Amino acid sequence: MIRVFVPRDSGALSVGAEAVARGIALEAAARAAAVTLVRNGSRGLYWLEPMVEVETRGGRVAYGPVTPPDLPGLFAAGFLEGKPHRLALGATEEIPYLRRQERLTFARVGITDPVSLGDYEAHEGYRGLRRALTMPGAAIVDMVTQSGLRGRGGAAFPTGIKWKTVLGTTADPKYVVCNADEGDSGTFSDRMIMEGDPFVLIEGMTIAGIAVGATQGYIYIRSEYPHATRALNEAIAAATAAGYLGPDVLESGKRFDLEVRVGAGAYICGEETAMLESLEGKRGMVRYKPPLPAIAGLFGKPTIINNVISLASVPIILDKGGEYYRDYGMGRSRGTLPIQLAGNLKHGGLVEKAFGVTLRELLYDYGGGSRTGRPLRAVQVGGPLGAYLPESQFDTPIDYEAFTGISAMLGHGGIVAFDDTVDMAAQARYAMEFCAIESCGKCTPCRIGSTRGVEGIDRVRTIDKIVAGRDREANVQLVRDLCDTMLHGSLCALGGMAPFPVLSAFNHFPEDFGLTAGALAGAGR
Ligand SMILES: Cc1cc2nc3c(=O)[nH]c(=O)nc-3n(C[C@H](O)[C@H](O)[C@H](O)COP(=O)(O)O)c2cc1C
Ligand code: SF4
Repeated sequence: MIRVFVPRDSGALSVGAEAVARGIALEAAARAAAVTLVRNGSRGLYWLEPMVEVETRGGRVAYGPVTPPDLPGLFAAGFLEGKPHRLALGATEEIPYLRRQERLTFARVGITDPVSLGDYEAHEGYRGLRRALTMPGAAIVDMVTQSGLRGRGGAAFPTGIKWKTVLGTTADPKYVVCNADEGDSGTFSDRMIMEGDPFVLIEGMTIAGIAVGATQGYIYIRSEYPHATRALNEAIAAATAAGYLGPDVLESGKRFDLEVRVGAGAYICGEETAMLESLEGKRGMVRYKPPLPAIAGLFGKPTIINNVISLASVPIILDKGGEYYRDYGMGRSRGTLPIQLAGNLKHGGLVEKAFGVTLRELLYDYGGGSRTGRPLRAVQVGGPLGAYLPESQFDTPIDYEAFTGISAMLGHGGIVAFDDTVDMAAQARYAMEFCAIESCGKCTPCRIGSTRGVEGIDRVRTIDKIVAGRDREANVQLVRDLCDTMLHGSLCALGGMAPFPVLSAFNHFPEDFGLTAGALAGAGR
């Protein structure tokens, strides 16, 4: 039997992977070729999807992007033996985009059958949990702390320290909640892991539960991810049947159960306390802190809340040790970050690299520059609340502190690129309007401020023929003052960070507002 891989990742499905898989099965049957179809995750080279791989004696070789009409030609050319064809990409692992990555968290994605527990075990799966079960909870927490892992959901808080707080509580039960709301623009790494290697997330959550004495886990997943939800549910059922989940995890006498909960469909439900409200069946509104969720979280009980990538990075840390993970990266940003390249780029996709790679390398060496062929003018990193960065800042390394140093943030590692046709005043308005639409309404600076902010930007924008340009400098100052109030007076980071894209647009792209550099002075810079 020849194994042929066709991704069932939703990115690949959206460009026709299902029809390609069906076509391969039909063509193979017509030619009496012995083919086993494996529906793998995506390798993350999205411009090549649907990317089909064939397992040959010399390893896996790739073809793409494949459409159903290409199939007769591919079969005729001998693609089942890895022979040349106009769509041939050579040995998959040798494609430069993949070869130059450092895949720790994504080590199995695209390689294994996502819902095959046997495949997961055969590729070093569950080694981390087995080791964790031989250690006291405090030693597991210490190893995660030592690895330097920081939350990949946005705030970059040290994961081990969060776990230590939960470990130090005595309540029963305790919970582990995985934040899979993935609401940031241009992000898809959580989805790729959940669709492409759900067991790694399940293992990471189980280790978290064993470490702090939590017995119940929930994955709060956005409703727009039906494929990921299905993959997770299938994997949870398989893990439970094999004794990796349930009342007696691998006969350790320790319990850990896991369930998937589909989210309520609002950006704010990704904020951890609003997510807890939503999980409890209420409207997603932000809670006051303290108490921290680690002390009084879900149903008032101590709760670990971590992002998908944070939790999915735990198994390799437990398997290979904290030092191994820590050896990657720079400064206080240790390990790797799965970076998502999106927007106007030739080669959009997933690039997992150690911290320290620069934005420029990502945009040009991996992303291949703009898809339109025009110069790249701006990138937004870290989702809708991230700053817009001009070309002069493209040499900034991917490092939490380096980004803070330029009033930007890495967030969840999403990068959205724009060419020189972008209207940065429109982007600034969009950022403020996003905040106005998504505000939960609990605090005044965000609820009222974001709406007044949109009006203020409209008065500055040159595009509006009626109010444009009237008292432009005074209105810029007003928006800056408003941003200052939102930055310092908002209850959560939605209102507290929405000013970043606006201020960065003023500061780096004043010409798009009809401003000169002289108009830059003001609050909230
Ligand atoms: C408005 C808003 C939206 C957020 N959305 C997400 C999200 O979709 N996914 C996520 O993991 N974290 C999100 N966060 C961050 C979470 O509040 C929290 O910091 C994170 O889940 C903690 O996990 P980590 O330490 O592993 O990053 C959001 C925060 C804010 C303020
Ligand atoms: S900043 Fe906005 S989203 Fe956050 S609590 Fe206040 S109103 Fe709600």
